[in-house]
Amino acid sequence: MKYFHSFLLLLIIAYGIFESVQAQDQSEFISLACGLVPKETVYTEKSTNIIYESDANYIDSGLVGRINDANKTRLQQQYWTLRSFPEGERNCYNFNLTANRKYLIKASFNYGNYDDLNRLPRFDLHIGPNKWTSVSFPGGRYGSNREMIHVLTQNRLQVCLVKTGETTPFINSLEIRPLHNGTYVTQSGSLILVSRVYFSPTPLFVRYDDDIHDRTWLPYSDDQKVSIRTDLFVNTSNFYDVPEVVAKTAAVPKNASQPLTLNWTLSEITAQTYIYMHFAEIHNLEANDIREFNITYNGGKNWFPYYRPRKLQMRTLYNPRALNSPDGKFNFSFVMTGNSTLPPLINALEIYNVLNFLQLDTSQDEVSAMVNIKQSYELKEKVSWQGDPCAPQFLHWEGLKCSYPNADSPMIISLNLTDSKLTGRITPEFAKLTQLIELDLSKNDLSGDIPAFFADMKLLKLILSFLLCRNLSGNPNLNSTIPDSLQQRLHRNSLTLILSETHRKESKKVPVVAIAMSVAGVFALLVILAIIFVVRRRIKKGPISVNASGVKSKDLKITYHEVLKITKNFERVLGKGGFGTVYYGNLDDTQVAVKMLSHSSAQGYKEFKAEVDLLSRVHHRYLVGLVGYCDDGDNLALIYEYMANGDLSENMSGKRGGNVLTWEKRMQIAVEAAQGLEYLHNGCQPPMVHRDVKTTNILLNERYGAKLADFGLTRSFPIDGDCQVSTAVAGTPGYLDPEYNKTNSLSEKSDVYSFGVVLLQIITNQPVIDKTRERTHIIEWAVLMLTKGDLRNIIDPKLMGDYDTNGAWKMVELALACVNPSSDRRPTMAHVVMELNECMALENARKQGSEEMSSRGYVNFSLSSASEFIPRAR
Ligand SMILES: *[C@@H]1O[C@H](CO)[C@@H](O)[C@H](O)[C@H]1NC(C)=O
Ligand SMILES: *[C@@H]1O[C@H](CO)[C@@H](O)[C@H](O)[C@H]1NC(C)=O
Ligand SMILES: *[C@@H]1O[C@H](CO)[C@@H](O)[C@H](O)[C@H]1NC(C)=O
Ligand SMILES: *[C@@H]1O[C@H](CO)[C@@H](O)[C@H](O)[C@H]1NC(C)=O
Ligand SMILES: *[C@@H]1O[C@H](CO)[C@@H](O)[C@H](O)[C@H]1NC(C)=O
Ligand SMILES: *[C@@H]1O[C@H](CO)[C@@H](O)[C@H](O)[C@H]1NC(C)=O
Ligand SMILES: *[C@@H]1O[C@H](CO)[C@@H](O)[C@H](O)[C@H]1NC(C)=O
Ligand SMILES: *[C@@H]1O[C@H](CO)[C@@H](O)[C@H](O)[C@H]1NC(C)=O
Ligand SMILES: *[C@@H]1O[C@H](CO)[C@@H](O)[C@H](O)[C@H]1NC(C)=O
Ligand SMILES: *[C@@H]1O[C@H](CO)[C@@H](O)[C@H](O)[C@H]1NC(C)=O
Repeated sequence: MKYFHSFLLLLIIAYGIFESVQAQDQSEFISLACGLVPKETVYTEKSTNIIYESDANYIDSGLVGRINDANKTRLQQQYWTLRSFPEGERNCYNFNLTANRKYLIKASFNYGNYDDLNRLPRFDLHIGPNKWTSVSFPGGRYGSNREMIHVLTQNRLQVCLVKTGETTPFINSLEIRPLHNGTYVTQSGSLILVSRVYFSPTPLFVRYDDDIHDRTWLPYSDDQKVSIRTDLFVNTSNFYDVPEVVAKTAAVPKNASQPLTLNWTLSEITAQTYIYMHFAEIHNLEANDIREFNITYNGGKNWFPYYRPRKLQMRTLYNPRALNSPDGKFNFSFVMTGNSTLPPLINALEIYNVLNFLQLDTSQDEVSAMVNIKQSYELKEKVSWQGDPCAPQFLHWEGLKCSYPNADSPMIISLNLTDSKLTGRITPEFAKLTQLIELDLSKNDLSGDIPAFFADMKLLKLILSFLLCRNLSGNPNLNSTIPDSLQQRLHRNSLTLILSETHRKESKKVPVVAIAMSVAGVFALLVILAIIFVVRRRIKKGPISVNASGVKSKDLKITYHEVLKITKNFERVLGKGGFGTVYYGNLDDTQVAVKMLSHSSAQGYKEFKAEVDLLSRVHHRYLVGLVGYCDDGDNLALIYEYMANGDLSENMSGKRGGNVLTWEKRMQIAVEAAQGLEYLHNGCQPPMVHRDVKTTNILLNERYGAKLADFGLTRSFPIDGDCQVSTAVAGTPGYLDPEYNKTNSLSEKSDVYSFGVVLLQIITNQPVIDKTRERTHIIEWAVLMLTKGDLRNIIDPKLMGDYDTNGAWKMVELALACVNPSSDRRPTMAHVVMELNECMALENARKQGSEEMSSRGYVNFSLSSASEFIPRAR
């Protein structure tokens, strides 16, 4: 796996140039110069001001080495030394860090013929049990760098070098930097750096301390572009903290009437990719100057329309869902729009591939127990005891057997420490291996008591052979008195303890408590137990939900008789609507909502079928799940998962009683509903338009998690090239897209409009249409109120001012962008999701009190504000 693209072969060997004036805070950095001796050494690299320390405190294996003097020229000092790993398949660095935090991890390799073999090795790099990347040196290059952005799942990080053949892994430097939680957000997985460039004509790379997060920015230019530069101050304070030097330069097309293009090819064509583009207007705009462009990729696919970089303000655009391209090629094109007087521009670009970590770590408790066992018995000779004890399976620790349940962490079921020179007492750490079935401590020099905790290890079936070795005075080191609780288990035959005396045969006084069993017999038992164990876990964890397992719709069909049973003859009414009545029901101990369609229903048979077809095909966390349906003569019913807290409308109006939905809750509901809708638009084949997005169709479960409901009107919409499908205009007055109403041409942007109305309701808690108001329709009313005064005029007074002003502004801007009369100018749902996530981030930041927010104090109706990363107040 190697990554490169056409305009850049990652240049690796770094030589710092920027003279730094003032060192930024690097207290949270970990910067290791591997192989640096002695272990206490700490020094500051002059070219970057980064403080390096020896790696010896983070690893207990490997050999230190130095590269050839001839190769040191122009290299920073951390590349002069290295650590190599001739022994063991896997060797790991261990870091104590913070779970759920996002880190930038950089590893650098510079061979420098340190071993005089002049043979460039190949090996793999792992993060915990998962492969990160392969390291090799294509084209005989001596150096190679790897970078990734990763959110830790546990309080520790292991970076491992893994042999893949005969050659010896080595590493020169390992660097870890925390990143802002709200940046580089993915739907799933970590990000591997493909490229990070800025558009400078000078061949200077940028890293710390120009970049406070120590990302490395490589210069790029080609003959189609020219670089422009400003000496003015550029405000780079959005979450991404693009360095000032990077922000001050930008690329524009050489021929101003041509588009700006950026092309690259991912070497791994199946990769999912995230692209981050950083923009700031650095040209001193005259009064009539407009710089506006459409960003498209791969032959006209929309990435971002009508973009206007902000004057001397850094903004970041990115795709909230991973993209891929069938051949790994990406051709981006930035085209001036009709009103633009200036050519397109870009300041910096980052490209990442998604890496999904599929292999689960062994549970933290078991890992720490094993690490403590390793430390307390000083088991340094066990070269395989590095990294995760169980995972990946082919690298599990010697003497360990693990079970690998489906979709769950591996667990240690057998530990064989025979002949391992264990001395001292039996450590209570063994008790933390709760899934242990067998434990072999034979042929060691253990002393002390036989601990009672063995009796509490429920699954333990066999403890094999404590050595009853006698010391010089003839006393056994191990006190062979067996605790009562353990005796009981022995008597119940639920545990086998075999005490033996292997070293000194002369003693005959050893009590025989072992239940004699041939070795073969023990093994047969263990195999059976292991099978039972695995099967039991499978059954317990197996999928039960009918709804989630993709069954065909006919499997969901039930009779009217069953409907009567489920609802106990329609005992409890949950709600009524134009379509009929919704009843409470119970199906196989699961609560459900049963919607009976009345004969006079507005929702006809066609809508009923449409909904059944859609929901039995489409499953998503934020779409209400169909549990079953009834199509039995005249009786039509839809059976949904039960949504305990009713619909959003009831909750906003206070009809259900209960507390006012907080700002945070409202945003979460908005983001979840938006994700459901976004899935209909982009995740389904063919894409779907809901056509009836409104607050009564957003349902809330017991945790106030939101799901979109009512797919009776949902249609697939024509994609490019298809002929236009004309359907009768449908929807709910007030939410209905006026453009769709007028032109009768259906697109996903109609849903965006309706969603915008929903957002306005979430913000204002006003009815959509109210004849008694100064303006009847909520949109007109909101615009009027905003022009009259400030934000507080429209935000729901029930919130009592408890919301983040920046986030609220952003949300208002977003809502107004969604309801733009021209569908072209509305954002896509993908961008809406991205924006809402950022509002959430602001609210969370406010709740944590970590950021000081102030009102921006102006309204900006332009769409371009709708999907940018908004600035961070510092
Ligand atoms: C490293 O040194 C060797 C031998 O002295 C030389 O052949 C090679 O080109 C050098 N590599 C670099 C990157 O300087
Ligand atoms: C990490 O934490 C463990 C236990 O808390 C400790 O034993 C170990 O020394 C720490 N490692 C480092 C590198 O600080
Ligand atoms: C980062 O965000 C995640 C989820 O959004 C959260 O669980 C975690 O606590 C956050 N971490 C920090 C350090 O704020
Ligand atoms: C710039 O592009 C335009 C339109 O594509 C073309 O007519 C013109 O010749 C180009 N100018 C130069 C200097 O290449
Ligand atoms: C990028 O690709 C487009 C379309 O394939 C092509 O017209 C353009 O010349 C390419 N630009 C560069 C810089 O390679
Ligand atoms: C820009 O994008 C919009 C929306 O996709 C499109 O309608 C318009 O024609 C594009 N303009 C140019 C100059 O490509
Ligand atoms: C250009 O600007 C005018 C006035 O602001 C606007 O009405 C028009 O829609 C814009 N045209 C395009 C193509 O964006
Ligand atoms: C433990 O390992 C030793 C040597 O590899 C083997 O002889 C012994 O049978 C193992 N014990 C168990 C319980 O499997
Ligand atoms: C062995 O352990 C038992 C119970 O813990 C204790 O009563 C006895 O004195 C111990 N014997 C020796 C020799 O330490
Ligand atoms: C940068 O912009 C943000 C908001 O746009 C503002 O709060 C901040 O004060 C600006 N910083 C400077 C140094 O002007």
